[in-house]
Amino acid sequence: MSMDRVSLAESRVPRYTSYPTAAQFGPGVGRRDVAAWLGRLDPRIPVSVYAHIPFCRQLCWYCGCHTSIVSRDAPVAAYHEVLLRELDLVASLAPARLPLSHLHFGGGTPTILTPGQFGALMARIGEVFEIRSGAEIAVEIDPRGLDEARVAALAASGVNRVSLGIQDLDPGVQAAINRHQPLALVADCVAMLRRYGLERISMDLIYGLPRQTPETLRRTVRDVAALAPDRVSLFGYAHVPWMKSHQRLLEPSGLPDAPERLVLSDAATAALLAAGYEAIGIDHFARPGDSLAEAARAGTLHRNFQGYTTDRAGTLIGIGASAISTFPGGFAQNAARLDDWRDAIQRGELATARGVRLTDDDRRRSAIIEALMCNFTVDIAPDIAADPTLAEDLERLEPLVAAGLAARIGTRVTIPPEGRQFARIVAATFDRYLKPEAPRHAAAV
Ligand SMILES: C[S@@+](CC[C@H](N)C(=O)[O-])C[C@H]1O[C@@H](n2cnc3c(N)ncnc32)[C@H](O)[C@@H]1O
Ligand code: SF4
Repeated sequence: MSMDRVSLAESRVPRYTSYPTAAQFGPGVGRRDVAAWLGRLDPRIPVSVYAHIPFCRQLCWYCGCHTSIVSRDAPVAAYHEVLLRELDLVASLAPARLPLSHLHFGGGTPTILTPGQFGALMARIGEVFEIRSGAEIAVEIDPRGLDEARVAALAASGVNRVSLGIQDLDPGVQAAINRHQPLALVADCVAMLRRYGLERISMDLIYGLPRQTPETLRRTVRDVAALAPDRVSLFGYAHVPWMKSHQRLLEPSGLPDAPERLVLSDAATAALLAAGYEAIGIDHFARPGDSLAEAARAGTLHRNFQGYTTDRAGTLIGIGASAISTFPGGFAQNAARLDDWRDAIQRGELATARGVRLTDDDRRRSAIIEALMCNFTVDIAPDIAADPTLAEDLERLEPLVAAGLAARIGTRVTIPPEGRQFARIVAATFDRYLKPEAPRHAAAV
């Protein structure tokens, strides 16, 4: 294996928001399994809930999310109705009204819901679950289309964390990605959120987009830092046109190649560190006092489908089309096609389409991979005691150790600061399902 930074950056490995990853999901898990898993939950232990809203008003050409573009309001209203029914269905299968510690609305664009729809959804969630005091209630926001009535509805419903899709503030880049969003619009949006007490703000940036240069990206970071979000996510653009054919619309504008992506990533990272943010995991940044930064220092950071989190719940219940749930027994994903999801719920059935049941081996490897992705260090001695074949994975680390991307002392594996960007590649050593010849994933950096 060639070990220079560029070829490493080109290697195609999962983002490990779960292990096994979604690539391993199959028909082995269905609605009956999920019904049984829900029924076996301990009503004393808080769960997390993820609600997916798969609609947007305009397509960003880089988008890799499960969403569809709607100009009318009727499909959103119809979806909202079905979502309420899905909540009732989950409630009827759970052993009791479960306590809830984390609630996340993602998309698509959750703020496409009207204030009335959002309030009704929150009210139903509050009936079905017992929202714990201090629970984190987070919403992904598209600054375009956010208005005062929506912000007021979020605040009135108890939302206490928001993440804003920024991506890039350069007008040339915005034109190339079909996302027009001037800095002034973002600044107004942030001011409005703060007026309503929504102080915990994250912002998403992407590097690797057409027309980005280190200078434009540094300017975007400077402008973002001046708005003082608590957290910033810096995602590498995932170009997967074999899954998202609209991404080909970016190709005529010229996508940066692997060496250019590395330069962009380094420039944005340096600018964020210079602005006083701490690096968290592989792609998050946070102010030193932020709970994510504190969790990173304490070694209590976790990783789930939304990325890095302080959420420690062992169960995540996903509602909405394509939403993924995590149970102690395995992962389950709802049908991604809106019609399939809706038809199942309207029949009074869960909309589970696929998933994977966890083996003891999966659990061990999942804990190793999560520790590497979150803490950059793990001692696998207890795992080797349970399964001596894991010692072979340690041997397979040798080329990465030789390249300085990982260090090994006995059974402890550590990723040094220079290797952190490549943590996914070190983690992949412990992925027993990854087939090097099948490039289904986006580039590592
Ligand atoms: C659901 S969107 C956030 C909310 C809202 N839809 C918006 O865009 O403002 C989630 C985030 O995923 C990231 N994202 C989407 N497609 C991506 C891709 N192909 N590669 C990397 N990041 C991507 C963007 O940073 C985006 O903000
Ligand atoms: S990035 Fe966000 S707003 Fe743009 S299409 Fe994707 S989900 Fe919709």
